[in-house]
Amino acid sequence: MNATTDYLPRRSVLYLPASNARAIEKARGLAADVVILDLEDAVAPDAKDQAREAAVAAVAEGGFAAREVAIRANGLDTEWGARDLEAIAGSTADAALVPKIGTPDDISRYNAALANAHPGMQLWAMIETCRAVGNLDALAAMAATTRLSLWVLGLNDLAKEMRAQATPDRAVFQPILSLAVCAARANDVTVIDGVCNEFRDLEVFRAEAEQGALFGFDGKSLIHPAQVEVCNRVFSPSDDEVAWARAVIAAFASPENAGKGAIQVEGKMAELLHLEQARRTLAMAQHKD
Ligand code: COA
Ligand code: MG
Repeated sequence: MNATTDYLPRRSVLYLPASNARAIEKARGLAADVVILDLEDAVAPDAKDQAREAAVAAVAEGGFAAREVAIRANGLDTEWGARDLEAIAGSTADAALVPKIGTPDDISRYNAALANAHPGMQLWAMIETCRAVGNLDALAAMAATTRLSLWVLGLNDLAKEMRAQATPDRAVFQPILSLAVCAARANDVTVIDGVCNEFRDLEVFRAEAEQGALFGFDGKSLIHPAQVEVCNRVFSPSDDEVAWARAVIAAFASPENAGKGAIQVEGKMAELLHLEQARRTLAMAQHKD
């Protein structure tokens, strides 16, 4: 596996309530890279059993093409969690997304609940509790020994628990966003930014998505189809970035720069690390819509 050039797009990660058949059907035709069929917060208590059945049936039926499809379970500390995990483990979903984890032991418990799942099933975890924020490195390190491969930040729950006020610049979350990205990167875990609750005003959404891209996230979680296209664009390299990447690759390949570690490209310094970044940019650009 080459972390620079093997790029799996996870730019747009769309949630929908698994109890909403119309939304499931719609998701099959949207350009989201990942679909999350939610059994947790988006589903009312009375609809939990029906949503679980609908989610498992939807992944069995397919129609999602290249998209990864995850099912988000209720926590194992709720009355639905054990049945959710059992159903997901028996399904063909790509991943089980689990909520409100706090410690490495939580990851172990969820991993054990997936013991009989198909070999490719991944464990994805929400980072949305204060305890998880305090344990970021230890949690990400669990990826080495479990199915854990991806985090989704849950900033609505985190704000509630912190008793913090979410502002448009997300000032209170910024240190957490950076630390989450670093812990994830250090352990080869994909890391997805939280949702923007504002789904009618796409300029508000775009600003928040651009902030997430600046912070280094792989993609953003979404709540509405209107957010998908903007999100894919924000998390794909721009034409200027692609042109720069091509220039860096060409410059390093030219005979006069053979064997050099640092060169000049269009008046700027480029080192071998920039060559690696350039290769990744081109790999990402292949998925541009
Ligand atoms: N995924 C797929 N399709 C969706 C969707 C989603 N997340 N959200 C809305 N749609 C569909 C609707 O079913 C509707 O389809 P139709 O035109 O075939 O009837 C269309 O998109 C337009 O929906 P709209 O009327 O603009 O939105 P709404 O008022 O019906 O719903 C929400 C607004 C926020 C309730 C809805 O978008 C939603 O449930 N989002 C996901 C919430 C969620 O999963 N939260 C958990 C994680 S935070
Ligand atoms: Mg949550």
